[in-house]
Amino acid sequence: KRKIIIDTDPGQDDALAILLALGSPELEVLGLTAVAGNVPLHLTEKNALKICELAGRPQTRVFSGAPRPLMRRLVTAEHVHGRTGLNGPDLPEPRMALQEQHAVDFIVETLMTEEPGTVTLCPLGPLTNIALALSREPRIAPRIQEIVLMGGGFFEGGNTTPAAEFNIYVDPQAADIVLNCGAPTVMMSLDVTHKALTTRQRIAAIRAIGTRVGIATAELLEFFERFDEEKYGTDGGPLHDPCVVAYLLRPELFKGRLINVSVETASELTMGMTVADWWGVTKRERNVTFMRDIDADGFFALLTERLARLD
Ligand code: BDR
Ligand code: CA
Repeated sequence: KRKIIIDTDPGQDDALAILLALGSPELEVLGLTAVAGNVPLHLTEKNALKICELAGRPQTRVFSGAPRPLMRRLVTAEHVHGRTGLNGPDLPEPRMALQEQHAVDFIVETLMTEEPGTVTLCPLGPLTNIALALSREPRIAPRIQEIVLMGGGFFEGGNTTPAAEFNIYVDPQAADIVLNCGAPTVMMSLDVTHKALTTRQRIAAIRAIGTRVGIATAELLEFFERFDEEKYGTDGGPLHDPCVVAYLLRPELFKGRLINVSVETASELTMGMTVADWWGVTKRERNVTFMRDIDADGFFALLTERLARLD
C-alpha cells in the first residue's frame, strides 16, 4: 500500500479527492491535514471530518494546520464553494474529533519516523502547511517519496487572477519553498483540470451508484459546477483535486513533462504565477513534472468505480 498524507482545504473537489483515496485499497491515508484556503481553517477542518464520516471511515486521523498564509492575508473562495466550503448536500455535524497534534508536527513526525521514500504528500490547497514543515525540519525533504499537488497552470492562464491559480495565489511564498525543496514533484495544473469537466452525464453516473456517498457526491458536484457553468458556459465545472489521487492510482491517465516551474512572489500584477519552462529555454533546474493532459473519460470511470466501493 502506498502511504499518503492529504493536505487539504475542503472544498467540494477536495472532498471528492478524499473520498477517492478512502475508496482505494492501494492507498493508506496516514492522515488528513487541514489548511486555510477555500474557506477559513475552522471550516476546512470541520469539512475534513464530515467527509471521513460520509465515507464511513471515522477512524481516519484529521489534523488542523495553518490558519493563514506565510506572509499574505488569507484570500478565500466562498463564491465558488459556498459559505461553508461544502455547500450542496446536507451533511451532519461531525461527531469525530480532531487530533490534538498540530498538522505541521504530524507531517514532520511522520516523515522522520516512516522509512525514507515511503510517504507521499498530496497537497490540495495552499501550500502553507507543507512549507512550514519543510522550514521547521529541512531533513524531511529527501525522505519524501513524492509530492503530487494540485496547483498552478500556465497555458490556461489563472482562475484567480489572469496569471495565477487559486492555491498558488493564496500562498505564493509557500509554493516557492515547496517547489524548490528537491523532492520529486508532480503538478496537476489547471491545464489538466480544466479538461476534467463534471458533465451532466458524468454526475448522473455518480448519482446512479445510489448509495449515500453516491448521492451526496452528486449533490456536491451539482453545487460546484454551477459557478463555472454560469461563468464560462461549459457543461460542468473542472474537477481539480481528485486528479492528484487519480495520478497515484493510474498515472497513465495523465501526460506531462519534467520541466522547471518557478513561482512569481514579487510582482503584484502576476503574483503566484507558475512560470513553466515547457520548451527548456532556460538553464533552470527541472524541478516539476508539469501535467498538461488527461484522459478525462478514464478519470471519471475510475472515480465512479471507487466511489461505489464506499457505502
Ligand atoms: C483549486 O482551488 C480550490 O478552489 C480548489 O479546491 C482547488 O484546489 C483550484 O484552483
Ligand atoms: Ca482544494
